[in-house]
Parts: sequence; structure tokens; C-alpha cells
Amino acid sequence: MVLVTSGSPSKTLAWRTAQALNAEYLDTEVKMFPDGELYIRFLSEVSGEDIVVVQSLGHKPNQYLIELFLMLDALKDLKVRRVVVVTPYFAYARQDERFKPGEAISLQTIARLIEIAGADHIFTIDSHRHRVIDVAKLTKIPLVDVSAMGELAKHVTRTYDLRNPAVIGPDAEAEAWAKIAAETINADYDALEKKRFDAETVEVRPRKLDVKERDVLIVDDIISTGNTIIKAIEVLKQHGARDIYVGCAHPLLVKNALIRIYQAGAQYVVGTDTVSSPIGLVSVAPVIKEAIRKIL
Ligand code: R5P
Repeated sequence: MVLVTSGSPSKTLAWRTAQALNAEYLDTEVKMFPDGELYIRFLSEVSGEDIVVVQSLGHKPNQYLIELFLMLDALKDLKVRRVVVVTPYFAYARQDERFKPGEAISLQTIARLIEIAGADHIFTIDSHRHRVIDVAKLTKIPLVDVSAMGELAKHVTRTYDLRNPAVIGPDAEAEAWAKIAAETINADYDALEKKRFDAETVEVRPRKLDVKERDVLIVDDIISTGNTIIKAIEVLKQHGARDIYVGCAHPLLVKNALIRIYQAGAQYVVGTDTVSSPIGLVSVAPVIKEAIRKIL
């Protein structure tokens, strides 16, 4: 039997994933003691089963990581058959190399700790780790990244009628996501780039596409402060774009990011349910199901 569970951050997504997989939802009791220590208990029998742990690491990464370690070690102890970990939002992924001497390479540390705690397989969704040469080498167990960009693009085009759409990544690293989204809805894609004309003139502009009079869908992995998207909206408006739609996998939306993006001129902003947010209308459960189906 396959059981899908979660600690405190992803119970709804774990439920949706269980439904998508036609599996059982396994509830947990999670408590924090007055001194800040955590307590976790699985509320049904797990021994001998395949367990999928859906645990997103947004908003309170340190707390959710400890919950994850407690769950994984307990599952090993309780003699389950196999543990598949899904971290829809994989925190610490942006610190994926030693930028300054002496720094911890946080992505590597967290991936290794999840493996040591008892995972047999790790899935992430649109994880930010562009500088890591070979992600597969971070752990001895399979670590696979899958994308929700296709689901986001489908949602936007089902909700709005985009005229001659172009999909744009706000920086070079986001071009891969723009490609997935664009191919899903059969549109052109590009990324913004900084072009230096002389020592004093730098312009941010689409690398190859002319966005004039076109509706644009901007896609990115994370919206944190919103500054990256706001800058992209400004640039695209300067280049004559018509309506601008925004899709992101992980809407962390720090402080007033969402309202600032609307004030900058976005027509519509949508995210997935990897982290809780007011715009998480696109569930990643189908994406998780497709990824897990291949190994369970
Ligand atoms: C950066 O490379 C990422 O892909 C995102 O563009 C970035 O994390 C977004 O952060 P913010 O919303 O604070 O600009």
C-alpha cells in the first residue's frame, strides 16, 4: 500500500497527492513544546508500507526540516518498506556554491541530511540550483527535479485569452522555465538579459523576441520580495508589451510583494500550492503524481 503523509506545512498538498495517486492519506500529529522542541506522531500503522512524505520547506524552513528529519528517522525505525520524499519547495537551494571563502554550501548539506535521515528517493519541484553542475551527484539516492511550469501556463491560458503570447523568464536562469511553459501552450519564449552598450549604458531587454503589442506571461521559480518580477514588468512595458501575466512555482511573497507586483502593472499573478499563499491556485499534485508513478 502507498501512504502519503506530511508534517505541518503540506497537509493539504499531501491529501491532494494521495487523491491523485489513489493512495491513502496518513495523518500526523505535530506539536511544538513550550521550549520550541517539536513532536511528531504518525496516526496509523506504517510498518511494511511505501510512504510518500510531502514536506515543503517554505516560510519556516528550519522548523519544517526538523519535522522532516523526525519523520524520516521514525519511519525507518517503524520498518516501512520505502520512503519517497517530496520537498515541493526546497529551501536553501539558492546557496548552491561557496561564493565567499568559508561559506557552507547549504543545498549540499540539506540534501545530504535528508538522505542520511532515511529518504530512498527525493523529488523537488522547479528547484533553484542553476550553478550546481550535476545535481544527481549531491546524494547517493536519486534526486529528481520536476516542473510545474506547464501546469501554470495551462492555467493562465485557460483563465485568460492571451493575444499573440510570449513567455519570458526575468533572467537567463529562468529561460529553461520559460521554455517549458511556452512549449506547453505553443508560444514563443525568451529571457531578459542585461546588455552593455558602453561603460555607462546598460539596458535590460528581451534577448531575441520583440514583445511590442504582445501579451506576455512572465514565469519564474520564486517570488520572494517581488523585485525581480517588478523589474521585468517595467522592462517589458518599456518595450511595448500589452497585458502582463505572472506565474511562479513558489509564491513566498515576502511582505507586500503581491500588491507591489500588481501596482507595477501585472494583469494577473498566480502561483502553485507548494507553499501557502493567497495565489496558490495551481496544484502541483498532478506533477508529483506523474513523477512518483514511475517509481512506485
Ligand atoms: C533568482 O535567481 C530566482 O530565480 C528568483 O528570480 C528570485 O529568487 C526572486 O526573488 P525576488 O522576488 O526577491 O526578486
